[in-house]
Amino acid sequence: MSTMRPERTAVILGGSRGVGRAIARYLAERGVTHLFIVFLEQVEAAESLTRELESCGVKVTSLQYNLGVAEDIQTMAERIRKLTSQIDYLVHCVALTTFKPLMRVRPNQWDLTMAVSTRSFVHVVQQLSDLMPRGSSVVAISSTGSQRFNANYGALGVSKSALESAVRYLAVELAGKEIRVNGVISGLLGGASLPLFPEIQEVVKQTLERTPSGRLGTPDDIAEAVYFLLTGASWMTGQHLILDGGFCLT
Ligand SMILES: NC(=O)c1ccc[n+]([C@@H]2O[C@H](COP(=O)([O-])OP(=O)(O)OC[C@H]3O[C@@H](n4cnc5c(N)ncnc54)[C@H](OP(=O)(O)O)[C@@H]3O)[C@@H](O)[C@H]2O)c1
Repeated sequence: MSTMRPERTAVILGGSRGVGRAIARYLAERGVTHLFIVFLEQVEAAESLTRELESCGVKVTSLQYNLGVAEDIQTMAERIRKLTSQIDYLVHCVALTTFKPLMRVRPNQWDLTMAVSTRSFVHVVQQLSDLMPRGSSVVAISSTGSQRFNANYGALGVSKSALESAVRYLAVELAGKEIRVNGVISGLLGGASLPLFPEIQEVVKQTLERTPSGRLGTPDDIAEAVYFLLTGASWMTGQHLILDGGFCLT
C-alpha cells in the first residue's frame, strides 16, 4: 500500500546498480510513480531495472549521461525538464575513483574523483532544484571513509568529506524553499556491492572483526534510511545518518 500522495517523481543519480538500484526498487514499492534512473555505461543493468519496475506499473526513464562532465549534466537536466514539471526526491548515489594511496593519486585521477563523486551533486542540485516543490528532499550517499583513514581510499575519502560539506551548505541555502538536504554515511556493503578494492577479502575480514553488529551492510539497509530521510524526518536538514553496524564506535 502506498504511503505517499499519488504522482511522485524521483531522480536517482547512479540508480541502475548497487545501492541506487535498491533505492529505486524501495521507492517504486512505496508509491513513487515516475523514476528517472541515471547511469554511465552498463545499459543492460539499466534496461533490466526499467523492465522490472515498469512491469509493476512504475514509469521509468533511464538516462545515460556522464555526471563527471558538466555539459552532460546540463543536457540531462534539459531532458528531465521536458519530461516532468516536478521532482519530489533527488538522490545522489554515484562515485568513481582510483583506489590507491593519496600520495600516488595523479591530478587527472583526483579531478575525475571530485567531478563524479562530489561536483556532480552540487551541479545537479543547481540545475534541478527549481523543479522541487516545498517539502521535497535531497539525499547524498557518503561513506565512512570520509571521516577515518582507509588504506587506498584517500581520493574518494576526501571527495566524500567535500560531499558531506556540500550537503550542509545546500541545506541552508535551500531551507527557505523548504527543500531538505541530508546524507547517509555508509560503511562497507557486502555481496554484489563490494567495491573493486585492492585486497578486498582482507578488508572485509578486518571490517567484520571490528563491526559490533557482526555483518556487513546491504544496499537495502541504505535504501531504508534514504527513504526515511526523503519522506519522513521533516525537521531534519543538513545532517547525516551513519549506517555501519557500529563500526565507527570501535
Ligand atoms: N558499495 C559500498 O560498499 C559502499 C560503501 C559506502 C558508500 N558507498 C557509496 O554508495 C554509492 C553507490 O555505490 P555502489 O557500490 O552501489 O556503486 P556501483 O554499484 O558501482 O553503482 C554505481 C552507479 O553509478 C553510476 N555511475 C558511475 N559513474 C557515473 C558517471 N560518471 N555518470 C553517471 N553515472 C555513473 C553507475 O552506472 P553504470 O552501471 O552504467 O556504471 C551505477 O549506476 C556511492 O556513492 C558509494 O561511494 C558504497
